[in-house]
Amino acid sequence: MKTQYFTATSLDGFIATENDSIDWLFPLGDLNDSSYPEFISNVGALAMGSATYEWMVRNAERVAAETGSTWPYTQPAWIFSSRKLPIIEGANIRFVNGDVQPAHAQMRAAAGTKNIWIVGGGDLAGQFYDAGLLDELIVQVGSIALGKGKPLFPRTVLSPVLRLVSVHQIGTGMAELRYEVRKGDLSGAT
Ligand SMILES: NC(=O)c1ccc[n+]([C@@H]2O[C@H](COP(=O)([O-])OP(=O)(O)OC[C@H]3O[C@@H](n4cnc5c(N)ncnc54)[C@H](OP(=O)(O)O)[C@@H]3O)[C@@H](O)[C@H]2O)c1
Repeated sequence: MKTQYFTATSLDGFIATENDSIDWLFPLGDLNDSSYPEFISNVGALAMGSATYEWMVRNAERVAAETGSTWPYTQPAWIFSSRKLPIIEGANIRFVNGDVQPAHAQMRAAAGTKNIWIVGGGDLAGQFYDAGLLDELIVQVGSIALGKGKPLFPRTVLSPVLRLVSVHQIGTGMAELRYEVRKGDLSGAT
């Protein structure tokens, strides 16, 4: 069972524009050509911050048109926020605030043998990383640059460095990189 941060990013490391648009993402490639179909079939619980959740709220009609439901996930979801947010009808969600560790324990119990998906944003994934709870980053790097926006992973990761496990080209618009988070120090690492 792994905790995975799976997301798309611009080449310069942003997952959304400053005003939370991801419209730049859709023309870059088909999600079904990435590892997403296999990835999502192994997800047992997911977590997201409030800006990501509010994107889902704002784009409920668009999401429904594409997926058949205003909330496309069947897995239970943990939404991190310090505010009271609107509830998407029919969504299996609970709101949490603060330390990621107790929420992670709940997600682990709910996920069973399946994986936990940190949907975003980057700082929330960073909070799981800080707590030693993040195992993998799976990132589709788009062939575009945004110049500024919401950061992919606003953390300093120098030692141990991440371990690049695989590289997969998705047409000319994206490359999917899979990294393993190495725990502990680098001594003896290969
Ligand atoms: N490119 C992609 O594939 C992709 C994937 C996912 C998301 N996105 C987009 O990227 C953007 C991400 O936005 P973002 O970087 O601002 O991140 P976010 O994690 O979606 O939202 C950040 C907010 O979540 C709340 N939060 C985070 N950690 C918390 C904690 N431990 N306890 C309580 N509340 C917590 C805080 O707001 P409050 O306390 O004020 O609620 C915080 O300001 C969104 O626009 C999303 O749609 C893109």
